[in-house]
Amino acid sequence: MAKGKTYFVCSSCGYESVRWLGKCPNCGAWDSFKEFREQPVVRRDGTVAVAKRLKEIEIRDFKKISTGIYEFDRVLDDGITPSSLILIGGDPGIGKSTLILQVAKALSDKSYKVLYVSGEESLEQVKIRADRLGASSDFLFLLNEQDLSKIKEELEHVDPSFLIIDSIQTVFNPDVDQVVGSISQIRECGAELLRVTKEIGITTIIVGHVTKDGSLAGPKTLEHMVDVVLYLEGDRVPSGGNGFNLRILRCSKNRFGTSNEIGIFEMTGNGLKEVTDASTLFITTDHVRRDGISYTVLMEGKRVILVEIQSLVLPTFFAVPQRVATGFDTKRLYMLLAVVEKFAGINLRGMDIFLNVTGGIRIQDSSGDLAVIASIVSSYRKRPLPENSVFVGEVGLGGEIRKVPGITKRIEEAKRLGFTNVYSPLEYNSIEEVLRICLG
Ligand code: TYD
Ligand code: MG
Repeated sequence: MAKGKTYFVCSSCGYESVRWLGKCPNCGAWDSFKEFREQPVVRRDGTVAVAKRLKEIEIRDFKKISTGIYEFDRVLDDGITPSSLILIGGDPGIGKSTLILQVAKALSDKSYKVLYVSGEESLEQVKIRADRLGASSDFLFLLNEQDLSKIKEELEHVDPSFLIIDSIQTVFNPDVDQVVGSISQIRECGAELLRVTKEIGITTIIVGHVTKDGSLAGPKTLEHMVDVVLYLEGDRVPSGGNGFNLRILRCSKNRFGTSNEIGIFEMTGNGLKEVTDASTLFITTDHVRRDGISYTVLMEGKRVILVEIQSLVLPTFFAVPQRVATGFDTKRLYMLLAVVEKFAGINLRGMDIFLNVTGGIRIQDSSGDLAVIASIVSSYRKRPLPENSVFVGEVGLGGEIRKVPGITKRIEEAKRLGFTNVYSPLEYNSIEEVLRICLG
């Protein structure tokens, strides 16, 4: 058992000192110092836990490892932190295995040893995909195994820097009496992989199938224990006019950096291709003027993206009108509709409203409020919005237009792309004013 350090405490005021003192510098009492020994705690497995003072803790040099896939690195805030546990989730078939095999290729090309464990596909299937992606490094090892204890044995054998588990739903711990893919198996295996990761200092990437509707939610229970949580999202059908088959990588948690950058990829015949100039990617109709179409500018991390909003407002056949939003929060839509009713004097109660943000992107901040309102009122009035117009701003409950972060950067980018009519809180105060100018 490790011996604890000795220290002295004043018995009248609790002042601590590393040496014995005759007079307490804090309360002035004489001969009050008593010797104490730090008591180490012995855990069940015999190791000792000793709390350390903040200043005693040394920080190892955690230099991040860049994969060279810029869009992936940017989401992780400059690359992978060694000895971390990363969870990557997404719908089945969205491209998780493809992305992670590309990451494995990039790392092994840089001479990092990578062990890719596939529990879902045969080695042959993985090899076929690897060939498609051009992976050929001697540092990339493949294993088809589901039993976690066997995976751990191979881990000792291969001794890699990176371990990839594809997917967590297919591995099992033989000591746990539950079926493969059950929540308890996922949690047990996740906890074991965390322990292994930190103990031997490898970096582990866990793939997990997660659906948006929550019907496959098991890996979500790992979110609190891992260091980084990534999600791969996107349209499964090629989106609209631009013909891109986009995938967006998001970070929802990062213990080693910011988590507000997104990575944009296009799924091609040879894997995921990085999309670096994304400003106009989500605009599918080449700014046509049509009822119900508006444009806004989003900021995703440091990146500025123009998006197109479409709405369809028409009389309902039902007792309760339908409100369907894709890529926009339905609750926020209800709030904006209430604001429109009250401050633009439009009665939308008998109307079905369908709202769609094109290109498969999701508006997650309030900067699209004004554009959403403009789009809905344009459809309702059956009038297109002015040519080359873009709407930026949050809308408050008083119908006022509010500033959003990065507004000048957003406006500059919109102007660069030819949107010359900017409607923003810099020039307009209320939705009533903007709607009057745009739609009469
Ligand atoms: P996959 O990575 O297997 O998805 P996940 O692991 O998330 O379930 O990707 C499956 C889809 O991606 C499949 O429909 C085929 C397509 N794909 C391409 O279009 N190009 C490619 O180069 C690869 C490898 C896959
Ligand atoms: Mg897969």
